[in-house]
Amino acid sequence: MNTDPLRLLAAMALGLAWVGWTAWVWWRNRAVQPDAMEERAGAAERPSTVLMPYASQTGLAAALAHEAAARLRAAGMAVTVLPLSAVDTARLRATSFLLIVASTIGEGDPPDNAAAFVARTLPAVPGLSLTGLRYGVLALGDRHYRRFCGFGRALDQALAASGAQRLFDRIDVDQGDPQALAAWRRALDRLAPGRLAPPESESESEPSIVRWQLAARTHLNPGSPGEPLYHLVFEPLGPTPAWRAGDIARIVLEETEPDAPAQDLVDAHTAGPSGATGPQVWPAAGSVRPAGDVLAGAGEVRDYSLASLPSDGRAELLVRLHRRSDGGLGRGSGWLTRQLPLGASIRLDVRANPACHVPEARLPLILVGSGSGLAGLRAQLKARGETLGRQPSACGPAWLLFGERSPAHDRPFADEIDAWLAQGVLQRADHAYSRPADGRPGRHVQSLLVQHAAELRDWLDAGALLYVCGSRQRLGEGVEQALLQLLGDEAVLALREAGRYRRDVY
Ligand SMILES: Cc1cc2nc3c(=O)[nH]c(=O)nc-3n(C[C@H](O)[C@H](O)[C@H](O)COP(=O)(O)O)c2cc1C
Repeated sequence: MNTDPLRLLAAMALGLAWVGWTAWVWWRNRAVQPDAMEERAGAAERPSTVLMPYASQTGLAAALAHEAAARLRAAGMAVTVLPLSAVDTARLRATSFLLIVASTIGEGDPPDNAAAFVARTLPAVPGLSLTGLRYGVLALGDRHYRRFCGFGRALDQALAASGAQRLFDRIDVDQGDPQALAAWRRALDRLAPGRLAPPESESESEPSIVRWQLAARTHLNPGSPGEPLYHLVFEPLGPTPAWRAGDIARIVLEETEPDAPAQDLVDAHTAGPSGATGPQVWPAAGSVRPAGDVLAGAGEVRDYSLASLPSDGRAELLVRLHRRSDGGLGRGSGWLTRQLPLGASIRLDVRANPACHVPEARLPLILVGSGSGLAGLRAQLKARGETLGRQPSACGPAWLLFGERSPAHDRPFADEIDAWLAQGVLQRADHAYSRPADGRPGRHVQSLLVQHAAELRDWLDAGALLYVCGSRQRLGEGVEQALLQLLGDEAVLALREAGRYRRDVY
C-alpha cells in the first residue's frame, strides 16, 4: 500500500475537486432543468394550427367547438371547425393538433353527423401510426345512460391506440356540468399560456335565463291505447328569445310555486281530433301536490323539441307521459304532465339545434314522424307557413308521413294538418296507425316509406330534404332500416353527408 503523505494529499484534493465539480454540474442542471423541460414541452405542445371537429346531435358539442375556436383564435391560432364526418385518414395524417368535441346519443352511439367518420375512418385509426399527432377530447354525455360518454371514450381510445399523444386527459361532461367545462377552458388556456384573451362576446356565466309560466296543458289523446300525450303551452315572463324550427327547449326540473292565479288558464283534454278543449281535468294551481313533497330528480334537465315559433309568443311542447318498467312515472314527463300546477313558472332555456334546421325553405321537405315527434315537424310546418305567407315563390313543397296508434283517439293537431293541406303548406299527408281497431293490421310509419317508395325516390331526386322526428327506438331505427333497404347504404350516407337526412330522435 502507498503511504506517501504528499501523494495522499494530492489524491484527496483531486477527489474533492471532482466531487465539487460534479456537485456544481448537478446543482446547475438541477436549477435550470425544470424550466428548460417546461420550455421544450411547451413549445412542442403550443399549436399554431388546430383542427377542431365536432360530433353533435342536438347542437351543444357544435356550439362548444365554435366557442373554443373563437377562444383559440383570439390567441392568434388558426382553427378549423368542422363536423367529424368531414375528417378522413388523410386529414388526420396531415394534422398536428386535434381537439375533438363529441357527444354520445342513443345507447352509447355516435351522433348522426359522425356517421361517415364511424363507417369509414374510425376503424382505420388505430392502425395509422399517428405518432406526430397531439390531441384532446371533450366528451359530452349524461351519467343516467349506461354508456356514459361512450362515443367520446371510443374516439379517445382509438387515437391513443394509433400512437397519438394526449395534450390532456379526456374531459367527460355530465349534462353540461359547468365545472367540467371550466376544466376544458383551462386546458385550452394552457395551449397558449399568456396569450389567451377570451373573445368579447363570450361569457362563462349561465346564458340569460327567461322563466316561463305554464299557461295551458291539453291531453291530446283521451281513450288512446297508448300513454297520454300532452300539449303544453308556456308563456315567457320576460322578452321572448329568438329560435328556429328544429330548436330545443331545455327544462330544469325544480320545486315550483304558482306565480299566478289559474282562472284564465286551460288545463284540459281535447274533445276529439279538432283540438277543442273539453272539461278541466286537473286541479288548479298550487293544489296538486301535498305540502312538503320533494320533487325527485330536482336539478335534472330534459330536452324537448319546440313545437312553436317565436312569432307564436309561446313555447309549446308535446310531452308523452313516460311509464317506467316498475310502473312509476318518468321524472320529467311525470312532473310536467301530472305535477306542475298551471300558473307555475319554470326555467326553460331555448337551445339552438343546427342539425335540425332546414337550410332553405325552397327545398322540398319530407317530414317523417310519430307521436310526440310531431312537435318538431309542427315547428317546421309553421315556418313553411310563414314563408308561404311572406313569399310564396320561396316555399318548396312538403310531404308529411306520420304514425300514431289509434285513428279514433290519436290524431293530434288534425285540424292544423288539414289547414296546411288546404293552404298548400303541405302537398300531401299520409298516416299509419299501429292499432286501427277495425280488424285491419296495424302498421308503422316506415311501411309508408316502403308503400310510397317510387314517390319517395322522385322527391329525393328533386333534391328533397328528409327530416325524421320521434322516438329513436319506435321510429328512428325502423325508418333507418327502411331507407337502407330502399335506397342502399351509400345513398343514405350520401344524403346524411349532404345534410339532406336530418334526425331529431330521442
Ligand atoms: C336520445 C338521447 C340519448 C343519449 N344517450 C346518451 C348515452 O348513451 N350516453 C351518454 O353519456 N349521454 C347520452 N345522451 C346525453 C347527450 O350526450 C348530452 O345531452 C349531450 O350534451 C348532447 O350533446 P349534443 O347537443 O352536442 O348532441 C343522450 C341524449 C339524448 C337526447
